[in-house]
Amino acid sequence: MNVDLYEKIWIWAAAGIIVVFLASIGATFLGQAIQPPSHVETIDPETVRTDPEFSQPGVTIHSDGSATVVVQAFMFAFLPQEIRVPRGRPVTFRMTSPDVIHGFQIVRTNGNTMVVPGYVSQFTTRFSQAGEYLIVCNEYCGLGHHVMSARLIVEDMPGTVGAASGGER
Ligand code: CUA
Repeated sequence: MNVDLYEKIWIWAAAGIIVVFLASIGATFLGQAIQPPSHVETIDPETVRTDPEFSQPGVTIHSDGSATVVVQAFMFAFLPQEIRVPRGRPVTFRMTSPDVIHGFQIVRTNGNTMVVPGYVSQFTTRFSQAGEYLIVCNEYCGLGHHVMSARLIVEDMPGTVGAASGGER
């Protein structure tokens, strides 16, 4: 079979593009460990309320100004109800559920994950704008789903002021 030279060039060019696309998916997966935030580590959902970490939900401010927020998401609330974090600093959220699947979405930001019983969800973000943000459950979890919310307050904190440098809001 005789294939025209230009036809051959385009066949190999198209094949090359497919290889590049597949390789880029593999590179981001293997090289940057990109993965969903919801399946970082496992936890027995029956022990969440007695777990040393998750039975004491709240905000810890570290010496470098960053913060860790431990959240319990359950039918039909988040604990803590009010979360205060420093502006412009890395804030790591760690969440789990003792009952069913919930969502944890910080409205108007890039903070959003599922909270799946049996797993600890975790993500880290920064908030460059001070203010009050609404946190909602965005996975239908039962009759009280629509009232499941909490408040996030981003503010300048002593020792962390002036740290706002880039990042997402
Ligand atoms: Cu929790 Cu919807």
